[in-house]
Amino acid sequence: MANTSLSTILVILFWGLTLATGRKLSPLSTTATLSSPPSDGICSSMVMTQGYTCGEHLVTSQDGYILNLARIRMGESRGPPVLLQHGLFMDGITWLLLPSNQSLAFLLADNGFDVWVANTRGTKFSRQHTSLPSNSSDYWNWSWDELVAHDLPATFKYVHDLTGKKLHYVGHSQGTLIALAALSQDQLLNMLRSAALLSPIAYAGQMTSPLAKNAAENFIAESLYNLGIFEFNMRGGSVIKFLKDLCNNTGIDCTNLLTSFTGQNCCLNPSIVNVFLDHEPQSTATKNMIHLSQMIREGTTSMFDYENRDENMKHYGQPTPPAYDMKRLPNDLPLFLSYGGADALSDVKDVQRLLEILKDHDADKLVVQYRNDYAHADYVMGENAHRDVYEPLISFFRLQ
Ligand SMILES: *[C@@H]1O[C@H](CO)[C@@H](O)[C@H](O)[C@H]1NC(C)=O
Ligand SMILES: *[C@@H]1O[C@H](CO)[C@@H](O)[C@H](O)[C@H]1NC(C)=O
Ligand SMILES: *[C@@H]1O[C@H](CO)[C@@H](O)[C@H](O)[C@H]1NC(C)=O
Ligand SMILES: *[C@@H]1O[C@H](CO)[C@@H](O)[C@H](O)[C@H]1NC(C)=O
Repeated sequence: MANTSLSTILVILFWGLTLATGRKLSPLSTTATLSSPPSDGICSSMVMTQGYTCGEHLVTSQDGYILNLARIRMGESRGPPVLLQHGLFMDGITWLLLPSNQSLAFLLADNGFDVWVANTRGTKFSRQHTSLPSNSSDYWNWSWDELVAHDLPATFKYVHDLTGKKLHYVGHSQGTLIALAALSQDQLLNMLRSAALLSPIAYAGQMTSPLAKNAAENFIAESLYNLGIFEFNMRGGSVIKFLKDLCNNTGIDCTNLLTSFTGQNCCLNPSIVNVFLDHEPQSTATKNMIHLSQMIREGTTSMFDYENRDENMKHYGQPTPPAYDMKRLPNDLPLFLSYGGADALSDVKDVQRLLEILKDHDADKLVVQYRNDYAHADYVMGENAHRDVYEPLISFFRLQ
């Protein structure tokens, strides 16, 4: 039974696609606090019911995306702000899936932190744009480069300006990639107090996930893009058929698809599956999937490659895309990094490549945790994560 549910997750989680479907857009003001959070928003549905103070804020990125940020506190606590940034196919609810005494967002609030939960462009609560409807190809014309250049800086600045304090940051998966990329370009540093990276992805060339690797090697995202499918929507109806075809044609064992994607998670309680399916997975841009596939195929971490000299020249002024140079991360930035021995997306070898670069990092500014039994989803859905990962993470923040 657990196996079937996990398979279902993955079928939906990973490989589905539909054309962007029409969604009604309601007019919303830009950067502002919502005076009363929408009844189906994160605050009303997931947070206030647990007895926490919660407010939803809208932040407009420089390129016009209107992002929803949920602020969670115990009472009116004015502790240090922490920004939580979810990964690919997820949204801010990532941090609220576990029971309240096991979820990172609530545990941070319990410990007096001022918690800010980000929602990446294109996910359920952040589908508005100042001019583009979310069913247009222009709306989906971005990869994680734009999350580095626009979403993160807008979100950081909003929280920093409003609280007047530097932020702690927690990223999972793609949420670590975009932070590392931004920091490698000297962005955000003036607003950042420390960063915790869970399932860090600085490189993806050693990724072992059969499903992700196969999709990259078979140029699946490129094919979809060429078919005019710009929103990569895993809840779509063609997902399952597509995945089955993939499994049939590549000989992947699809009996446990979640494992095929994330690695063997040690610590998921089967009941988390239903909670997960109520909220996730979320859409991303097909162009973003292409960008991630380039990282897997090439083992490099560079800006989006147009695979065309002239296009690259036009965008970057050089024939190949500029690299994000992880060597440029400042040595004195307080970093907490946790990676899992069973993680097929954030592979141990790829993490070690990052650790090798961090070997000159100030020893008292770097905490590295290795969980032999953890895979990708354990970091946000594992029933022991509060004890294994979140407690040491919170202790780390307290020292910074
Ligand atoms: C997008 O949605 C709007 C409003 O729902 C609709 O009028 C329009 O035809 C849709 N456009 C596309 C390209 O599907
Ligand atoms: C969380 O709360 C539940 C219900 O009150 C309790 O059974 C469980 O032991 C608690 N877990 C932790 C980690 O405190
Ligand atoms: C995306 O934007 C670029 C310009 O930056 C444009 O050349 C391209 O056609 C756009 N693609 C889509 C699918 O809208
Ligand atoms: C997969 O292959 C089997 C046997 O070759 C076939 O019966 C089945 O219909 C195929 N499934 C799909 C979804 O193509």
